[in-house]
Amino acid sequence: MQAPAPSAIATLTPVRGRLVCPAADAPHLSIIDDGLVTFDADGRIASVGPAPAGCAVPETAPGAVWLPGFVDTHVHHPQTRIIGSATGPLLDWLAQSVFPEEARLADAAYAAAVTDEFCDALIAHGTTTAVVYGSSLPSATDQLFAALAARGLRADVGLTLMDRDSPDGVRVPADVAQAASEQLIARWHGHDGGRLRFVVTPRFALSCTRRQMRDAGDLAERHGLWVQTHIAENTAELAAVAAEFPEAADYLAVYADHGLAGPRTVLAHCIWFDDAAWDRVAALGCTVSHCPDSNFFLGSGAMDLAAPQARGVRVGLGTDVGAGRSFSLRQTAASAWDAARVRGARADAEGLLWLATAGGAAACGRPEVGRLAPGLAGDLVAIDVPAYVLDRSPQALFEALVFRRDAGPVRHTLVQGRRLR
Ligand code: GUN
Ligand code: ZN
Repeated sequence: MQAPAPSAIATLTPVRGRLVCPAADAPHLSIIDDGLVTFDADGRIASVGPAPAGCAVPETAPGAVWLPGFVDTHVHHPQTRIIGSATGPLLDWLAQSVFPEEARLADAAYAAAVTDEFCDALIAHGTTTAVVYGSSLPSATDQLFAALAARGLRADVGLTLMDRDSPDGVRVPADVAQAASEQLIARWHGHDGGRLRFVVTPRFALSCTRRQMRDAGDLAERHGLWVQTHIAENTAELAAVAAEFPEAADYLAVYADHGLAGPRTVLAHCIWFDDAAWDRVAALGCTVSHCPDSNFFLGSGAMDLAAPQARGVRVGLGTDVGAGRSFSLRQTAASAWDAARVRGARADAEGLLWLATAGGAAACGRPEVGRLAPGLAGDLVAIDVPAYVLDRSPQALFEALVFRRDAGPVRHTLVQGRRLR
């Protein structure tokens, strides 16, 4: 059953205002002080550039700046209500906070309420594309797809695979999960011109049998799907993986050996990688979701952002809610700054905003988003900034967008030229 098209007000009216435009291949943003974006009937950007002299379109959101919508490359839908559960580090937090909450989504009414809150939070924080871990429960994952379809958001959603070392209520046998995945793919993958996609989602090596990982690799190969998983997040996790998979050369090899590490794989965390592991990530062509706020909250460590960047590895930012404490990619970018400082490295607001938009789009294989250019999706956000910031330098604007911890929700969120907020 296909969900109806979004019921949001179909504006498709042009946007006029100050535009922040990420470059395609470099962590650079340019500004058009008085820009105009027009859309075609399908919600793609038809034109973008300076507003022509005598332009009759009024400024759309006075006092705001417009950016491409944010791309969250790693977020857990069933963890919406456990944000801030301070039971870490990772393996304790999973057992005490995550698995009991994810089991609650078996109740359809509970799952529906969580799903509404999840979609509301994405829209409020200007996330227009999200790469999502659903729960391990097919019914709740189907509900999530239906809600995203109806709400008009763009997302890659996975049924989280876990057939071992997890409690009743969330553990799902490999054959059941595989059949459910096929059904979800048939129902949702490619929905609304590719706005929704199915992503193969083995939770991590410790929650999947070898058979399940092999099935997952086959599924991805057969349907040409993206894969997402967690890797090298926590030292106790590393030790357990090494003990559990003595035949594998290292953690990355566990996934590579099961057909789960290639140019359509998003690896989250990647904290405990040495140079050789980073070299192999680059050689395999995997992409990286940098989840600094989650990493701070669980005390997991700080990823070396320079390592993938120096090797040309595609990197995006992930909130990793609910270990991450916010749905805001701006807050996540600020945490990425802190993580760089912890490692004695430098980051800059411009580069971090680029990661939250164009970088994230590249990291999840969505070339249609993350930038403002003709032919790309009309996914934009309007963010209020103090007037005095606009009178200063571009740098001051980028810093205000990233580092204001007290920043609230965005003013407007558009997907495919339609206003969701
Ligand atoms: N590793 C396995 N599952 C999870 C999860 O839900 N969150 C995080 N941060 N790490 C994980
Ligand atoms: Zn995660």
